[in-house]
Amino acid sequence: MDTRVDEIADGIYRFSTHIAEVAPPAGFTFNQFLVMGDEPLLFHCGMRGLFPSVSAAMAKVMPVERLRWISFGHVEADECGAMNHWLAAAPGAEVMHGMTACLVSLNDLADRLPRPLQDNDVVDIGGKRIRYIDTPHVPHGWEAGVLYEETTKTLLCGDLFSHVGGGKAATESDILEPAIAAEEMFEASSLTPAMGRTIHRLANLGPTTLGVMHGASYRGDGAAALHSLADYYDARRNRLAA
Ligand SMILES: [Fe+2]
Ligand SMILES: [Fe+2]
Repeated sequence: MDTRVDEIADGIYRFSTHIAEVAPPAGFTFNQFLVMGDEPLLFHCGMRGLFPSVSAAMAKVMPVERLRWISFGHVEADECGAMNHWLAAAPGAEVMHGMTACLVSLNDLADRLPRPLQDNDVVDIGGKRIRYIDTPHVPHGWEAGVLYEETTKTLLCGDLFSHVGGGKAATESDILEPAIAAEEMFEASSLTPAMGRTIHRLANLGPTTLGVMHGASYRGDGAAALHSLADYYDARRNRLAA
């Protein structure tokens, strides 16, 4: 198994493992993001089976024991399967997540108690500023949330914009069409009445980089891409409800 390392924004590293057996023939990537700062933060843990490869990738950037914060979009194996492996490998690390994730799952699942965050809390990790945003049920999971790194305008948007295939670490091409194709293949999103509104709120942050969990990251007008994605989901929900 091979995990590649790319710096997608200043001090933000993407670890990416392409798994050909998931969504063949294109395959599917599983990506984690390391935000470097005095207190480095990892967004997404990967599945337990990926831990040897992803931790070796991190070791190319910094010693794994330096990791201070662990977070992820929601409670699924690709987001947090290896959470306790990371907690064991980095004795000073803590999980941080929204209230719902902590109360419903992580206070029990995590080997050390997590730090609960309120919607819009900002955590200064020394050189980078991490804003936590609650996105309940978007794209799925009651406890769902995303992180926005303010100094680089990077939205770590989790499963939003998921698309199949390997290839480039980052693209400036349209990512909406591949994301729509993946949504219509997997039907992974909850399509709640709040979905469009929640994604428009992310757009209003004005991100210029989108760290996508499955697929290439995006550089460009992230706000426009998110507004378009929100409109697509609202239209899809209305179409399916009709
Ligand atoms: Fe997910
Ligand atoms: Fe995911």
